[in-house]
Amino acid sequence: MKRTARRLLWLAAPLALAAPVIAAVTQAGSPSGPSPAGNPLELKYHTPSAARGAQIAASSCQGCHGPSGVSTDPTVPRLAGQVPSYVRLQLAAFRAKLRPSPVMQRVAANLKDQDIADLAAYFAARPPGPAWTTDPALRARGEALFQRGDAARNVIACAICHGAHGRGEDSRGIASVTNMSPGYALKVLHEFKETPSFGGIPHPEAMRIALQPLQDADLRALAAYISSMQ
Ligand code: HEC
Ligand code: HEC
Repeated sequence: MKRTARRLLWLAAPLALAAPVIAAVTQAGSPSGPSPAGNPLELKYHTPSAARGAQIAASSCQGCHGPSGVSTDPTVPRLAGQVPSYVRLQLAAFRAKLRPSPVMQRVAANLKDQDIADLAAYFAARPPGPAWTTDPALRARGEALFQRGDAARNVIACAICHGAHGRGEDSRGIASVTNMSPGYALKVLHEFKETPSFGGIPHPEAMRIALQPLQDADLRALAAYISSMQ
């Protein structure tokens, strides 16, 4: 179930939502803009309150995602330091049942738009947890791919989008990739690589294309590198 989560999300999305998904992505952070009717991924909210997000997180998220969003369970992603636009889009997708995780769909069903914005603001402001320790040789191979790519194999440097620091970019909905466990990072990279193409859905398409030339050994090296980035 987990392995197919993103594939199913992006299979379902374009059937009804290709244009609205783009709208949700490009309008992230401009809550006052006009909303196309019935787009479940577009959120309406006032200036987010991290303090209110902290209260919701303490009662509804901490049990799994850890105190301050620093999960110690390698199968539960860390949310501390994640870019808010990415967290908002994922929570909206869980709530709309477009990204299938039974547990997260159940959690997100109870969240209002304002809750989602407040939670995203809270987690974004938390310091990311400690980096993971990974094999130095594997890590070095991953670092070279991430920072410089491999022109001979058409591998684009991940840093072009995610930044040399790996912390992503909120305005473009680009996720932070640091400090996730090596196992979760590898799982996510395989999911993105194996997601079919749908033309017009910007985010997963960008990741899918970036990952096509890479083999499992490359993905392991990248997972070792990003999980150990400071
Ligand atoms: C019962 C455990 C549980 C609870 C409670 C829970 N989560 Fe999750 N969450 C998970 C798991 C497991 C995943 C990974 C799902 C997957 O593999 O697709 C996840 C994934 C996520 C993601 C996607 C992260 C990414 O990197 O793609 C976000 C965002 C998220 N949760 C936010 C929240 C918030 C906010 C709350 C509280 C309102 C919450 N979760 C409560 C277990 C939980
Ligand atoms: C063209 C821009 C682009 C390039 C190049 C790119 N990414 Fe991404 N990446 C994104 C975007 C956008 C997202 C958020 C996807 C979403 O919204 O589901 C993302 C998401 C991710 C995630 C998921 C984060 C999470 O919390 O689950 C990982 C891991 C990741 N990228 C790693 C990489 C690696 C490793 C490379 C290099 C091989 C790479 N990316 C290259 C744009 C890019």
